[in-house]
Amino acid sequence: MTYPTPKFLVALALLGGGLSLASAAPAESPAATAAATVCAGCHGADGNSVATTFPKLAGQQKKYLLKELKDYKNGKRVSEIMAPFMATLSEDDLAELAAYYAKQKPAPGVVGDPALLALGKALYLKGNSKTDVPSCDGCHDENGNGDGKFPRVAGQHVDYTLDQFRLYAAGRRTNGARVMQAVAERMSEQETRAVAEYMASMP
Ligand code: HEC
Ligand code: HEC
Repeated sequence: MTYPTPKFLVALALLGGGLSLASAAPAESPAATAAATVCAGCHGADGNSVATTFPKLAGQQKKYLLKELKDYKNGKRVSEIMAPFMATLSEDDLAELAAYYAKQKPAPGVVGDPALLALGKALYLKGNSKTDVPSCDGCHDENGNGDGKFPRVAGQHVDYTLDQFRLYAAGRRTNGARVMQAVAERMSEQETRAVAEYMASMP
């Protein structure tokens, strides 16, 4: 007969302690666990991401968030970064995540080039009749808060917005409204940057 070594007993005690701690903690849903351990790494614990190519989710429209999450999961919105994280989450989990981020308080955006704000504001509120670019306020709201399936754009990172305009213009983001591809194709680089800066400036 062999006896367990003291080292083994210590390991067993630690493991036992760990397990009883874990079982004493409140049972977390898969969505809450994912938000805290996976999503937080890129989008921030409260949905206010720090890295400017990762979109802010805090205060985003719940309906829009849920649609985009479902589209990442079913492959209609293509992102190599996002897709793997959707695989293990159910539709109920996605609904819980959308509700969570919609409720968080959005942090103010950061403006990189204040000289472009006046042009950005004019485009946002009036569009450009010469190039047939519609104004943005009709769908995204005058204050940039969006509504339902129309996303909030206020306070979003300029870099993320520029990335999305490139994807729209190249026909690589096609899961949503066709109007966004037309908008992105018709806007010059300077106009795109200007409107992105203006959206970032909106509280
Ligand atoms: C490794 C970094 C990373 C992780 C982890 C991550 N994301 Fe993302 N997320 C991104 C990037 C980058 C995009 C933009 C992708 C694109 O261009 O479509 C994005 C886009 C999104 C969008 C679309 C936002 C919008 O305004 O359209 C949602 C919603 C989202 N992520 C939710 C989540 C959730 C929920 C999790 C956790 C289950 C998560 N993400 C994990 C990097 C990440
Ligand atoms: C007719 C309605 C409509 C108009 C006009 C419109 N948008 Fe959109 N926009 C949408 C919808 C709907 C989406 C949701 C995503 C999709 O359909 O691809 C969207 C998505 C976006 C996104 C991506 C948000 C994210 O988090 O990924 C940005 C940025 C945006 N719009 C900016 C603009 C700007 C700037 C203008 C004006 C020049 C504009 N939109 C005009 C309907 C509109």
